[in-house]
Amino acid sequence: MSKKRLSKLDAPKILKNDERIMNENDFIVSKTDTKGFITYCNQIFMDMCLYSDEELIGANHNIIRHPDMPRIAFKVCWDLIQNKQEFFGFVKNLRKDGGYYWVFADITPSIDSNGNLIGYYSVRRKPSRKALEVIIPLYKQLIDAEKRGGMSASEALFGELLKKNNTTYNELVTSLQNM
Ligand SMILES: Cc1cc2nc3c(=O)[nH]c(=O)nc-3n(C[C@H](O)[C@H](O)[C@H](O)COP(=O)(O)O)c2cc1C
Repeated sequence: MSKKRLSKLDAPKILKNDERIMNENDFIVSKTDTKGFITYCNQIFMDMCLYSDEELIGANHNIIRHPDMPRIAFKVCWDLIQNKQEFFGFVKNLRKDGGYYWVFADITPSIDSNGNLIGYYSVRRKPSRKALEVIIPLYKQLIDAEKRGGMSASEALFGELLKKNNTTYNELVTSLQNM
């Protein structure tokens, strides 16, 4: 019998307000195929999310998707990486016990010698606490917009915000992480 592929449908439904903070020098690493199914995970990833490698390999990366993450964040991510560009972003992740942890993620496309996209590689480190003070209320605003008017509403709100601050998405996240 083939193994069940875990996804966000298998994630805990009861959330806990219990944050686990990354160590200063730790890196959480995972690799996926082109569809976002996990092909590799390091020990720190397993320690943080509380799933085993047995559970993670083959699972959809959305197994650790936290409901406090606005959908627009993942749209920005996939639009970039599918176009062979790098994505940086702040992500709140859901642990198997219903708790959570924040990361500053870097996702890069893996390209073979013929230029074909063969998967993705992600390395996360501890996010700047000051950045999270900006990101947490911003993500709340984006989620509210999504509840009211779907992703087009959060996309419009986010676009306006970048315009008002005369910045781009990549500039915004990298300057926040360096705060
Ligand atoms: C290499 C790679 C790493 C990813 N890491 C995460 C992650 O740590 N947390 C997360 O919620 N989504 C991550 N994603 C995005 C998920 O694939 C997915 O788009 C997201 O969880 C939203 O899922 P949903 O659209 O099914 O709700 C990653 C995707 C890739 C390609």
